[in-house]
Amino acid sequence: MSTTIFAATMANDNKKFQAIISHCKEYGYIFPSSEIYDGLSAVYDYGEWGSELKKNIKDYWWKSMTQMHENIVGIDAAIFMHPTTWKASGHVDNFSDPMIDNKDSKKRYRVDHLIENFAEELEEKGESDRAKKLLEEMDRLLAASDYEGLKQLIEQNKIKCSVSGTAHWTDIRQFNLMFSTQLGSVTEEANEIYLRPETAQGIFVNFLNVQKTSRLKIPFGIAQVGKAFRNEIVARQFIFRMREFEQMEMQYFIRPGTQKEWYAFWKAERMKWHQSLGIGPEKFRFHDHVKLAHYADAACDIEYEFPIGFKEVEGIHSRTDFDLRNHQQYSKKKMQYFDSEINQNYIPYVIETSIGLDRTVLMVLSEAYREEDLSTADKQDSRVVLAIPPRLAPIKLAILPLVKKDGLPEIARQIMDQCKPWFRCFYEEKDTIGKRYRRMDAIGTPFCVTVDQQSKEDGTVTIRYRDSMQQDRIEISRIKEIVEKQIF
Ligand code: GAP
Repeated sequence: MSTTIFAATMANDNKKFQAIISHCKEYGYIFPSSEIYDGLSAVYDYGEWGSELKKNIKDYWWKSMTQMHENIVGIDAAIFMHPTTWKASGHVDNFSDPMIDNKDSKKRYRVDHLIENFAEELEEKGESDRAKKLLEEMDRLLAASDYEGLKQLIEQNKIKCSVSGTAHWTDIRQFNLMFSTQLGSVTEEANEIYLRPETAQGIFVNFLNVQKTSRLKIPFGIAQVGKAFRNEIVARQFIFRMREFEQMEMQYFIRPGTQKEWYAFWKAERMKWHQSLGIGPEKFRFHDHVKLAHYADAACDIEYEFPIGFKEVEGIHSRTDFDLRNHQQYSKKKMQYFDSEINQNYIPYVIETSIGLDRTVLMVLSEAYREEDLSTADKQDSRVVLAIPPRLAPIKLAILPLVKKDGLPEIARQIMDQCKPWFRCFYEEKDTIGKRYRRMDAIGTPFCVTVDQQSKEDGTVTIRYRDSMQQDRIEISRIKEIVEKQIF
């Protein structure tokens, strides 16, 4: 039997991306939000298996950040924050993207996305040198906030709107990405507040509370997982860019002047974490920021090679004392730390690691999705498998009685009762065993055990491994141990 993975040889990777999106919908991973009303642009719901995968990734990150680092603790701050928070953080004045509108279609584009898409088209046409030069020029102009120059670049390259097909562009303008709402019941008295565009500020404003209660000494970190909201103008590419999404962020508070070494430390540490998901180093790269965010003195992204190309999954930012200093100024509360080792008071510097949970879900799914040709000389066959690392897989073990009679379901139920307190199990007795295996492959279940007549005689079952499809005979009493070895 030949097992060919044809995902790798698919002619068009965008096809693979579309196949993943369909697969997610068909197998309970991810649905468009409010689909019965035709969906809501760039908002998605996680289904029964998607929410399990997302939770497993979240737990894995949380454990590796907090439990595995004695000097990092977690918090869970509210989404709503005092409006001055966003003035102090710079988001009210600076959290905007340069946008351009096409005068004919009225479609609005983020300038960098418009140019990047055009560069991708050039690449596809074999004009790599031109694409490279274009992107270098774009980076230079963005870093200088030279919007006139960017508009000229768009015009010189005759970049067209994909809807109207014309190149009639407005001037470039800045649009703030924060959503706002009203706090208070009477409209006239209500205060305008924002839905947080990053979780980090919940950590900054709690810096002194946590430092005092945890009694941690610098360097120490505060971690958080939570929702963030951005009114993304170009929101597409499935869960890669959403208007409501989740971040897993950690702020590491350090002594001023040590930021270079801690920045290098967290770059290496986070890259190791990504590779611990079982993804090869060749699928990642660092991308240093040319145009730094308003709060950073150094910043880079960890990019993963999605089917749609290398894209950012995580940002690592050296945020200086920008946030704490501004909160001190706006709140008039001291944000200083007394460092007893050097007998000095100072506002700590911060290194931030900020990873998108949804993008990590997409990364794990992109890496796991395979279409395999299992054809033999006499029979055409294939399967779709999600080779998700066992520790992240939504279901760890499927328990399948071969037939629905002869006492086999009873044995299967006993196995279910033994294992379900320890990890997520799934019981299934409908359909042929072959169909049930295929369904579990498509959901990404790493282990299936089949209970058959022999199980009644000698207390053994067949265990089938998802990735190799190998089958072994094992004792029922060993199932829990075998699965647990792979998932922790
Ligand atoms: N606190 C720093 C910060 O928010 P960022 O680079 O803007 O930095 C961090 O965002 C991460 O959040 C990104 O690397 C990405 O994974 C995720 N993210 C940002 N915007 C997103 C969006 N619209 N949809 C999904 N994930 C997003």
